Amino acid sequence: MSRSGDSLRTKAAARSPRTVRTVRAVREAISEWRAAGESIAFVPTMGNLHAGHLSLARLVAEPRTRVVMSIFVNPTQFGPGEDFAAYPRTLTEDTALVTAAGTVDLLFAPEAADIYPFGLNSAARVSVPELGRELDGASRPGHFDGVASVVTRLLNIVTPDVLMLGQKDYQQFILMQRMIADLHLPVVLRMGPTHREPDGLAMSSRNRYLDADQRARAPALQAALARVRDAVRGGATNFADLGAAAKQDLESAGFKPDYVEVRRAADLAASNAADGREARVVIGAAWLGRARLIDNLLV
Ligand code: PAF
Repeated sequence: MSRSGDSLRTKAAARSPRTVRTVRAVREAISEWRAAGESIAFVPTMGNLHAGHLSLARLVAEPRTRVVMSIFVNPTQFGPGEDFAAYPRTLTEDTALVTAAGTVDLLFAPEAADIYPFGLNSAARVSVPELGRELDGASRPGHFDGVASVVTRLLNIVTPDVLMLGQKDYQQFILMQRMIADLHLPVVLRMGPTHREPDGLAMSSRNRYLDADQRARAPALQAALARVRDAVRGGATNFADLGAAAKQDLESAGFKPDYVEVRRAADLAASNAADGREARVVIGAAWLGRARLIDNLLV
């Protein structure tokens, strides 16, 4: 690495995050930074941070850019009977991780009443129809309305120049891209790569729901998607059959698959098998015990 690269990295490593709880405190910090001519990058999370979250902050921690990370387990993106109550809330550990990483300037950890001031039942909703009802949206009705509703609020509070989201939640990324374009939101969306455990399992807060036996079997999801990806790369065009075979493999490995599909990478529309130049993504979701795992691989 060049000398200037070294000094940029040193500068990025020097940040120590301040934790704030209120919208007002976020706005005060942002106005000070804006007045000093700095730009703002934003990494929204639900906490229980892992290397994937930290890498998103690292990717945007550039000189003269302040990094805001939110930690908020958003109730509106969980359906009835889903894991909202069980979702790991680990603010103390998260704060220690972010402090050690040194790439975040402000940690915003609000209460639901700060984000939804009129209460959950009367909260305004943002909805991205069609794509929001497919794939994960079909298995989790209302999930993406909850994501769109909270991300819109967070963007209005933080007013970032850059919004950073991870590839692991690929449908979420594409949906947010659509929402930002459709609502003319003044923010640039960037994608960070999926972080994986050494055996290939995509890092996720929900991996902690796996017992030892399930954890040993969990990389089979990525392996099944990789077989589909390799077949598509090799010229296979029978996408429905490939998805069905992957689901069968997952069932044999003890999963309950929701879907495995080959879609157009740009917008998750149905892939046109006849178009040899189309960029594609293999995307899948499957239950393993009480963990619902999602993953995707670009072809
Ligand atoms: O990806 C997540 O963790 C959440 O869906 C997000 C974007 C923080 C919204 O709650």
